[in-house]
Amino acid sequence: MIPTNTITERTQHFLDLEEQYGAHNYHPLPVVLDRGKGVYLWDVDGKQYYDFLSGYSAVNQGHCHPAIIATLIEQAQKLTLTSRAFHSDLLGEYAEYITRFFGYDKVLPMNTGVEAVETALKLCRRWGYQVKGIPENKAKIIVCGHNFHGRTLNVISFSTDADARNNFGPYMPGYEIIPFNNLSALEQALQDKNVAGFLVEPIQGEAGVVVPDEGYLAQAYQYCKDANVLFMADEIQTGLARTGRMLACDHENVRPDILILGKALSGGTLPVSAVLADDDIMLTIKPGEHGSTYGGNPLACKVAMTALEVLKNEKMAENAEAMGILLRKGLQDIQSPYITTIRGRGLLNAIVVQHDDPEAAWDLCLTLKDNGLLAKPTHGDKIRFAPPLPINAAQVMDCVSIIQRSLESTFHR
Ligand SMILES: Cc1ncc(COP(=O)(O)O)c(C=O)c1O
Repeated sequence: MIPTNTITERTQHFLDLEEQYGAHNYHPLPVVLDRGKGVYLWDVDGKQYYDFLSGYSAVNQGHCHPAIIATLIEQAQKLTLTSRAFHSDLLGEYAEYITRFFGYDKVLPMNTGVEAVETALKLCRRWGYQVKGIPENKAKIIVCGHNFHGRTLNVISFSTDADARNNFGPYMPGYEIIPFNNLSALEQALQDKNVAGFLVEPIQGEAGVVVPDEGYLAQAYQYCKDANVLFMADEIQTGLARTGRMLACDHENVRPDILILGKALSGGTLPVSAVLADDDIMLTIKPGEHGSTYGGNPLACKVAMTALEVLKNEKMAENAEAMGILLRKGLQDIQSPYITTIRGRGLLNAIVVQHDDPEAAWDLCLTLKDNGLLAKPTHGDKIRFAPPLPINAAQVMDCVSIIQRSLESTFHR
């Protein structure tokens, strides 16, 4: 184990509490945070860090963005929840705002990302039966290997990650898994007339920021069109300016039939997700057939409008694009033998660490933490570098130098 800054008594106190009373379903870095602002986080001992995870892209707008927090506070003092048994003065306004923002007929509001994915899958099956005419219980949805769409039993039924799946069966049928970034596998799978949809992450985030070949999304979309199959984009991690466009699909001018959003839709303040589609798809679900107590609550509606406005007004996609180029160039220039791959788009990036020690990426993250930058490995050897989008050039270069120093001190001692 690489020696790290001594863990203070105060930090240890919080680590012990979580360990003793919280379920052990995560393996966090040993840092306890109590404050965030913009691209920075602070721990309970007052140490400052760059955030290079951004709450898995929930905090695209930066921590505690003043406009989002002001909206949150103002609306929280007025009305937070009506349930959908009654109308609120904000749901219609929000629905109009977000559908115009992304160019769809309708929105179905949910809370967490996986709920939005479940909603999209239900909508897709519904459309398959009622519009496409697939025989009852025969609808099939194509997904990609190494996907990550969340943690419900249905969604892990089509995961290829043993940790996510094993000993949680039996699994939900009705899915076919094909390799990501493989157009001929998709073309083949689409020959089945009972296919209702294709669900894809435009860039596979959890898998380690796997960027498909140029043209993959556009051609996949076209194949789906030709087969009368819905193209569903899970933009929960890639969307909302993260990859240098408002949506990652925008890089290839693809307009998904069903668009799934979450995470940064609230700028990291509360769970807000959404499914967008046109009427021929959305209106297949009727009153009582789907919903959620918190879905579309006034607090979420108001916060989501501000979160989107901030992304647009502060040109965060443009900044993500420019800072992403700078970050990847800075990482390339380090020329470390321990980094085999640097990939990404905008500010959704990852490196692949190559070392005999299987703990190398974890150890590097511990050193990065000691040097003031928080990042977390995914699938062992990959580390995501995804700072909040308002990061500036001087901060990016500061981070590159932290990463360089950390590589040297982790692997050359
Ligand atoms: C692409 C993608 N889909 C779905 C989810 C699930 O979102 P949530 O954790 O809010 O349920 C995630 C979360 O990381 C994600 O990255």
